[in-house]
Amino acid sequence: MSKREPGVLIGARRSSPLVVSHGEGEQYLGRRHALLPLTRRFSYLQEGDLVEIREDSVQVFDADDHAVERDIKESSFNLDAVERGEYRHYMLKEIHEQPQAIADTLEGRIAGNHILTQMLGVDAQALLEGTRAVHIVACGTSLHAGLVARYWIESLAGVPCTAEIASEYRYREPVVSEDTLFVTISQSGETADTLAALKLAGERGYRGRLAICNVPESSIVRESDLVLMTRAGPEIGVASTKAFTTQLTALALFALELARVRGLDKDRYAAHVAELESLPGLVAEALKLEPEIAELAKAFVPKEHALFLGRGTHYPVAMEGALKLKEISYIHAEAYAAGELKHGPLALVDANMPVVAVAPNDHLLDKLKSNLEEVHARGGELYVFVDRTVRHGMDRGHVIELPPAGPIAAPVLFSVPLQLLSYHVAVMRGTDVDQPRNLAKSVTVE
Ligand code: G6P
Repeated sequence: MSKREPGVLIGARRSSPLVVSHGEGEQYLGRRHALLPLTRRFSYLQEGDLVEIREDSVQVFDADDHAVERDIKESSFNLDAVERGEYRHYMLKEIHEQPQAIADTLEGRIAGNHILTQMLGVDAQALLEGTRAVHIVACGTSLHAGLVARYWIESLAGVPCTAEIASEYRYREPVVSEDTLFVTISQSGETADTLAALKLAGERGYRGRLAICNVPESSIVRESDLVLMTRAGPEIGVASTKAFTTQLTALALFALELARVRGLDKDRYAAHVAELESLPGLVAEALKLEPEIAELAKAFVPKEHALFLGRGTHYPVAMEGALKLKEISYIHAEAYAAGELKHGPLALVDANMPVVAVAPNDHLLDKLKSNLEEVHARGGELYVFVDRTVRHGMDRGHVIELPPAGPIAAPVLFSVPLQLLSYHVAVMRGTDVDQPRNLAKSVTVE
């Protein structure tokens, strides 16, 4: 603003998202979430846009200084979506919103036990039919979702898949084999490294670029050829929770669709689709464990280190559990594939080291059990999240029982108690749960 022209406000969009909201005889400039209490009518500025706002007019100029129109869109979010309501923190509210967010992400995408191919757009079938490899790129929590999906895509669709950190991908020279599909995963759709990787991928000869994203108007969505939206609603807490489980849900839909196109056995396909449909109910059941987990959390409060173990799809789930704990409680937490324990981290295990293990009922359970014996033998304090149907013989340390779940539902289900654990540890340690120090919700600069 200038003193010489008090009725004029000038804004410019560079990297971070910026919207103009249109109220009754008034206009605002800012982040969409901050403006929702005032209006739901927004124009989303594009990269390089400059806007001149007066009391009764809004004029946008693009990066080349041409006057342009930016459509006014009505946001479907209501105020409840961005208010904490009865919850002490946004993170807790968002953890509890997961059954609904997952149901919303599935909504209209499954009919009569079948995933609807159109969820990916009209040309998706042909694109998937010719897909010979999948290359996933993302950051932070979104990368963990991609690492889980890698196991699904390879085992169900039989297609080679890699998942890697966007800031690494953008500075290396990847060898892209023919007919590889490039996939980005991002809650915000604005993460600088992921966006840069996506732009580079446009020059690297991929079959197509799919975005799994939570913000329809975001730069990543605009830059992609195919889009599968997560419908988590606004996520305010810096530590991602419902965005993660809805990303897993969307990735499961994608993996199963790719698998069907590539000839997955019909019964197996139907069983996995049914698993997906059962997810909201399973997650609601897991949320009931909160009082038990809050009690367990007390033991972590004085600790400075923790180890998280998992195998298969639950190795990235353990990584996500460790990330949550370090982000909001500032406890140093590391995740290991349980089979790697003997190659280093076992040296750290003693009575001061809490060890969290993710133990679903899968083909790796016996292997995991013997890893846990090794921890127990060294005096490590075990916290085991286990499928209650295979609890037998898992009496080492503290055991938290979860409902039975198959290979698609289990990684989503087991993520929930780990979120609750971190949340309660952080609350007891008195940290700023929703705004942890040094971290940002959306990292729009490199
Ligand atoms: C930041 C956030 C994380 C998030 C990561 C990637 O580090 O704090 O919660 O996982 O960015 O963000 P994106 O919006 O691309 O998923």
